[in-house]
Amino acid sequence: MFDRIIVTGGCGFIGSNFIRFLRRQRPAIRITNIDCLSYSGNLENLAGLENDSNYSFVKADICDGAAMKQALTGADAVVHFAAESHVDRSLMDSRPFVQTNVLGTQTLLDAAHQAKVKRFVHVSTDEVYGSLPLENPELRFTETSPIKPSSPYAASKAASDLLVHAFHHTFGLDTVITRCSNNFGAYQFPEKVIPLFVTNLLEGKQVPLYGDGLNVRDWIHVDDHCEAVLAVLERGRAGEVYNIGADNEHSNLDLTHALLRVMGKGPEFIRHVQDRPGHDRRYAIDSAKIRGELGWKPSRSAWPAALDATVEWYRTHEAWWQHIRSGEYRRFYDTLYASRPEAAAASR
Ligand code: NAD
Ligand code: DAU
Repeated sequence: MFDRIIVTGGCGFIGSNFIRFLRRQRPAIRITNIDCLSYSGNLENLAGLENDSNYSFVKADICDGAAMKQALTGADAVVHFAAESHVDRSLMDSRPFVQTNVLGTQTLLDAAHQAKVKRFVHVSTDEVYGSLPLENPELRFTETSPIKPSSPYAASKAASDLLVHAFHHTFGLDTVITRCSNNFGAYQFPEKVIPLFVTNLLEGKQVPLYGDGLNVRDWIHVDDHCEAVLAVLERGRAGEVYNIGADNEHSNLDLTHALLRVMGKGPEFIRHVQDRPGHDRRYAIDSAKIRGELGWKPSRSAWPAALDATVEWYRTHEAWWQHIRSGEYRRFYDTLYASRPEAAAASR
């Protein structure tokens, strides 16, 4: 259906899993990965693809209009993952979030429009819907829920969604937006809660649990997310939004206890720390639309097996995360925890 696909942010967590997934599922498709190699972009995530004739890498910033115009010429479709993606970083400095997530997406949309690509898949997030109360477990986000982002990260993603909608409405660009819940799996940068807690525990350190630990996240395995993005790329309806989720809600406290169990550690490894400012209480995705329209359903996300396998991946890929934790990661935590000394103690 598509001969040549542009993937942005392909050196990050989900983008690299998507490229590997696409190589397995659609080996004839030629993939160009555009990534600026920010702190979370890592060429090691795609080790082994260097000599693959259907894969190429362009090191570029999605805010660079000339580079995007050149890279997108002749492409059939764009799958846009590139973003600043970590809520805590957006609380420390929101400018890079507006730069990449808003201006970068606008630059890419301009290039896609000029290049007349046949499809633009914008990978967004359930965080654009804001927070649900714990008291109403029946409530879930649907595609028509109000856009009510809480953090600068979520606000920048919401702004990018609106730009995508505008390019579809005004210029007729064939766009589809996906909004997925929290991903877990291999190659996740160890600042997000699961790889952070697992790698802390592997190093014999405590884990910094924010607030009362009762915030709920709806977890999906990254390969289920990748399969959903492929379904949307190939069969989604132009101009539509598709929620993606695996009906796998857990509080952070439950998640932490599950990790302690699989890693053979006791509750003394939990360190309760100051809450994240503006911390969303609960996310829960209603994914009936993509299941009904596109026949997608998750098959790899069920806990405990999927969580245990993820822990095992980090256990057996120590060189991958040790490399990260000794560099940029350390600088980030030094800054984040400058105002949160009790959390710093847990992660050192
Ligand atoms: P990530 O931080 O691991 O990867 C982001 C990638 O984008 C990195 O490779 C980085 O180098 C690249 N990048 C950043 N700024 C760039 C720029 N200006 N130009 C070019 N490349 C740039 O993030 P992730 O967790 O893989 O998330 C990927 C996408 O999925 C994001 O759009 C995010 O909003 C969305 N999403 C993530 C989750 C999740 O749980 N991680 C859930 C739903 C949606
Ligand atoms: O819902 C989708 C979103 O999920 C994506 O759009 C984001 O890119 C992705 O980062 C993720 O956002 P969260 O803020 O939910 O993920 P994070 O891993 O940072 O935190 C998950 C939960 O764990 C959240 O309630 C905060 C809590 N937490 C996190 C960290 C890093 C802790 O208790 N301690 C921590 O040290």
